[in-house]
Amino acid sequence: MKRREFLSHAGSAAMVTALSPGLLSSCAAREKSPAAPAFNYTSAYGVQTLRIWSPLVREAVHLFAMADSHLYEADERNAPYHPYSARMEGAYNEVAHYRTHRPTTPAAAFRECMEVAAASPADAIVHLGDLVSYPSEYSIEYASALIRKSGKPFYYVSGNHDWNYEGLDDDDKTAAREQWMPRLKPFYNEGVNPLMYSVVIKGVKLIFIDDSADTVSPEQIDFFCREVRWDGPSLLMMHIGQAFPGHDSFYLGYPRFRPVYTPGRGLAMLSKADGSHEPQIERFFAEVLRASRETGLLATVVGHEHDIRSEEVENHRQFVLPFGGNGSYTDILLLPLNESVPYTGYEK
Ligand SMILES: [Fe+2]
Repeated sequence: MKRREFLSHAGSAAMVTALSPGLLSSCAAREKSPAAPAFNYTSAYGVQTLRIWSPLVREAVHLFAMADSHLYEADERNAPYHPYSARMEGAYNEVAHYRTHRPTTPAAAFRECMEVAAASPADAIVHLGDLVSYPSEYSIEYASALIRKSGKPFYYVSGNHDWNYEGLDDDDKTAAREQWMPRLKPFYNEGVNPLMYSVVIKGVKLIFIDDSADTVSPEQIDFFCREVRWDGPSLLMMHIGQAFPGHDSFYLGYPRFRPVYTPGRGLAMLSKADGSHEPQIERFFAEVLRASRETGLLATVVGHEHDIRSEEVENHRQFVLPFGGNGSYTDILLLPLNESVPYTGYEK
C-alpha cells in the first residue's frame, strides 16, 4: 500500500487514529520544515504503532518503545527505606494484561515484553522511565537481567519514580536523583551521562534528556541545542512531557502545581509560589520549537502520563507512550517518505 493510500485509509480503519485537525491544517507550514514529517499514531488490541515519515530518514528504523513499567517488588535490602516506598510498593500490584485482560503483574508483563522485543525485528528497545516504582535493588536486578537476555540494544532515561523514595528529600529532587541514580546504572550503557546523551541508530539520532526531577538544567538545554543541529533527523526522548501553554497536566513546566508526597498523609498538589515556569524551562520550550522549525527534529516522545496522547504545538509534535506495567508497548517506525508500512508480519 502506498503511503498516501495508507493515510487516507487509516482514518476509516477499526482502530484509534490520532491524526488531529491541527495536524491536517498545518500541513502547508510543515512542508517548509527541513524535517517535513508526517505522522500516524494508532492503537490496535493494546499495541500502539507510531509511524513517522520524513525525507531525512534514509533507512527504516524500528524502536520497541515502552514507558512506566512500574516494577514494585523488593527484598530485605529495601527494609530501611520501606516507609518511603510503601505507597509505590502497593501500587500497580495486580494489573489487567493489555491484550488478554487477565490479571498479571508488572514484573510478568515486563518479562513478556522483553521476550516479544527479542523476537521482533526491532533495532533497539527504548524505555522512557518509571521502569521501577522506587530504587529497589531487587527489581533493578530482575529487569536488567531480562534486558540483557533480550540481546537488543537498550536505551533508557529515568522517570520520576525510578530514583525516588517518596517523602525522603522531596524538597530537592535534583539532589535526590543524584543520590539514588547509581542504583540505576545497570539500565545505562557504559560511559553515558544519564542526564543527557544521544545515540544514532541507522541515521536517526535519539536525544535523551532526563527531566525526571521536574526540571532541565542549562547544561541539558545546551546539550540538546548542540545535538539537534546535525545533518540528520532526531527524536527528543524524555520521561515527562512538555507542558506547552494550554496543556493542563503533570507535565514539565506545568505552571501552577507540583506533586508532593508526605508519608501517612498522601499525595498533594501544592501551588508553586509564583505560579510560573522556571525561566530555563521557558527557554527549553523555545529551543524545542525552534529546533522543529530549523532542524531535523521530528518529534518528542515521552511517558509519565500512563495514557496515550498526541499533541501538536506550533509545528512540533509530542507523543505520550501508554502505561507499560500491563505489557503494553509501542512500535515506533521511522520511515523514508516513500516507504510502505513494514513490520506487520510478526506476532504481537
Ligand atoms: Fe509512571
